[in-house]
Amino acid sequence: MAKVKITETILRDAHQSLIATRMKLDEMLPAVELLDNIGYNALECWGGATFDACLRFLNEDPWERLRAIKRIARKTPLQMLLRGQNLLGYKHYPDDVVRYFVQKSIANGIDIIRIFDALNDTRNIEVSIDACIKEGGHPQGCISYTTSPYHNAEIFVKDAKRLEEMGAQSICIKDMAGLLVPEDAFELVSAIKANIKVPIELHTHYTSGLGSMTYMRAIQAGVDIIDTAISPFAMGTSQPPTEPMVAALAGTPYDTGLDVKELSKISAYFRPIREKYIASGKLDTRMLCPDVNALIFQVPGGMLSNLVSQLKQAGAMDKYDAVLEEVPRVRADLGYPPLVTPTSQIIGSQAVLNVLAGERYKTVTKEVKGVVAGEYGKTPAPIDPEFRKKILGDREPITCRPADLIEDKLPEYRKEAAQYIEQDEDVLTYALFPQPALAFFKNRQLQKYNYDEAHSDAQKMAHYI
Ligand code: CO
Repeated sequence: MAKVKITETILRDAHQSLIATRMKLDEMLPAVELLDNIGYNALECWGGATFDACLRFLNEDPWERLRAIKRIARKTPLQMLLRGQNLLGYKHYPDDVVRYFVQKSIANGIDIIRIFDALNDTRNIEVSIDACIKEGGHPQGCISYTTSPYHNAEIFVKDAKRLEEMGAQSICIKDMAGLLVPEDAFELVSAIKANIKVPIELHTHYTSGLGSMTYMRAIQAGVDIIDTAISPFAMGTSQPPTEPMVAALAGTPYDTGLDVKELSKISAYFRPIREKYIASGKLDTRMLCPDVNALIFQVPGGMLSNLVSQLKQAGAMDKYDAVLEEVPRVRADLGYPPLVTPTSQIIGSQAVLNVLAGERYKTVTKEVKGVVAGEYGKTPAPIDPEFRKKILGDREPITCRPADLIEDKLPEYRKEAAQYIEQDEDVLTYALFPQPALAFFKNRQLQKYNYDEAHSDAQKMAHYI
């Protein structure tokens, strides 16, 4: 029986899940050496929403953040989360942008790229896996876990085999909503383990309070790696806490080999940072209470709170139960996509519209039309032809890989952002988030200008003195 390995999420998913991705680089850096010395399988520290948050809220260059962490963390592989053809944005990007982004991520310090697609359409992740292999990185193929009358262990085994064939060097089961219950985890991991050779990693969230138990059963089924967060930023909508998992496995055949005393130094460092975010209201401790609604309605906690805010805005909170019943119906109509960005928002908004209008699909959002038209890829279950006709009329859906219809665009982006580019990576920042990127670039120029001015004033003064 092999030892269980641990990927630490404090630098990415933990703060993305609990404080809207607001942790700053200078709050991370003092802990990086400690983290690097623990012996983790990997430090997840980049990708997901961190890139967007750096630019939009923190006035940080996401590339510089990665380089700064890499300068200290020389021993532990650095890991990022990538939304396949969507990269770190919310739409499909051309293949040349995807390849260049992967190249630069690895060149700046990423070792392992976890790649997923909201529909589990492997065509949406094949280019990033291929690019990662070419750049000498470790591509991890990811299955977005969900439950539906269509999904079962067999379907996920098929996905995992396909990812392995495509060159994935490990497979992740990504339970972003915390829906995976312990016995299903045992069954799923056993089934995948029996069919593939590469290591299996399980990623869950503590949302429904089951996370640590789910890991325990997955470990008994042979899972190789689990994702945890150091305790001050664990539980609630984040990952199960690292130290209790390490302590629970110590002395068993699954011993992680990690030292709880060393881990407690890291918790001690992050505890005051947690207190700071509680005091500022950014960390809402109510979110730390297990939410079994996620299990009852089979929807992610974040989606429930979005629905509540949409209904409050419409002054229609009395329709909450009706909307909750409508969500699974819309999801069935759309071929049972996993509820993850962006499908959770697409389905939630349409369910609200259907209930408020008193007639289903009286108004149809552009995004729902896009899903039905195949623009996001192939849905897990086929869409009923009658329903498709109702939504699209005579318009034919596409059946190819969506990015096959997108022209390469890197040279165009380069031209558009030319006057602001100071490093190769800037064109990618611009391609992903044009508006926040330009604001960031302008601010960067201004800061530099002020610095130069101040400097030359000081020199003039020196001359006179
Ligand atoms: Co996650």
